[in-house]
Amino acid sequence: MKVAFLSAKSYEESFFLEEIKRHSYKLELEFFEHRLSPQTAPLVLDYSVICIFVHDDASRETIEVLRRGKTRVIALRCAGFNNVDLRAAEEAGIQVCNVPAYSPNAVAEHTVGMMLTLNRKFHRSYWRVREGNFSLDGLMGFDMAGKTIGIIGTGKIGSAVARILLGMQCTVLAVDPVPSEECRKMGVEYVTLEHLLQRSDVITLHCPLTPETYHLINAERIAMMKDGAMLINTSRGAVVDTKALIQALKRRKFCAVGLDVYEEEEKYFYEDLSDKVIEDDLLARLLTFPNVLITAHQAFFTREALENIARTTLANIVSYMQTGVCTNLIRSERYKTQPVKR
Ligand code: NAI
Repeated sequence: MKVAFLSAKSYEESFFLEEIKRHSYKLELEFFEHRLSPQTAPLVLDYSVICIFVHDDASRETIEVLRRGKTRVIALRCAGFNNVDLRAAEEAGIQVCNVPAYSPNAVAEHTVGMMLTLNRKFHRSYWRVREGNFSLDGLMGFDMAGKTIGIIGTGKIGSAVARILLGMQCTVLAVDPVPSEECRKMGVEYVTLEHLLQRSDVITLHCPLTPETYHLINAERIAMMKDGAMLINTSRGAVVDTKALIQALKRRKFCAVGLDVYEEEEKYFYEDLSDKVIEDDLLARLLTFPNVLITAHQAFFTREALENIARTTLANIVSYMQTGVCTNLIRSERYKTQPVKR
């Protein structure tokens, strides 16, 4: 079976090729650096499987092009599927599958790493000491132990974050329409969103991007937060209204903000643009704040996660080959509203 692997990066190819070799899978993988979009879809019409990542565009418009060719499966090699129009895929007879949990720990550890970096200012002291400046002025942080952390979304990643923070003696509050019994047993207290925003010293986002969570963190909700709170977003960029965030940063609302994701990241993240001008004024403004740390959607990026991504993605495809149904099939009727692109 022919698989077109889009948005391919050299660091992931070897994980896929090794996994194919290990199982002697009868799959022909071809790697393409370009992203899937309505413009590039005609190039992959000859492939039964289109393997995509977070920035590929599998909107209705793209799927309308793909349905003219041989595509039977869109295999996401990530967890989030807000970039796929599930209903359009279903109408075109294309199955969509994902990797539901490749390493919740990778994302959780990166999240807590961002909190600690921003709190204890490792990023600033690293440069300072290298330049022979051993002063501590401006580097004061706070004990995490005893602080209240609010987790929005306690699925696989959110509960892994809770486990780490409870181990650091934090009080953990959470909001989730489907509370986790496991989290409750660990000592997580479920509260209303308003209560979480008002009481938390650090707020961290781990819900998916859906029409309900689009701009969940907006001006009104930021106003409910404690002055001097820290906000971390490793979920999806559009869960936060960036314009409202920048206004709040200018008013010194936050002690710090950590972002692994950004609303318009597709144009920038995963590319080396170091000799280019950043034309996105919101991203450029965010980069000027000394208390904002941005990483380029790298929270998932560990060896273990890449091994799991390769193993699960290929098993999903092979299951389609053998049974006609992918494992980890995403059914559109399970999601009463269509996820949003971004
Ligand atoms: P999951 O499906 O296990 O958990 C998501 C949780 O959010 C569920 O418990 C759900 O009930 C909850 N939720 C849904 N709507 C909510 C709302 N309005 N308010 C509060 N909670 C809500 O997903 P998982 O694996 O924990 O991943 C979470 C998100 O993290 C993904 O959707 C993806 O966007 C993001 N992600 C980011 C990565 C990165 O590298 N930065 C890597 C992997 C995932």
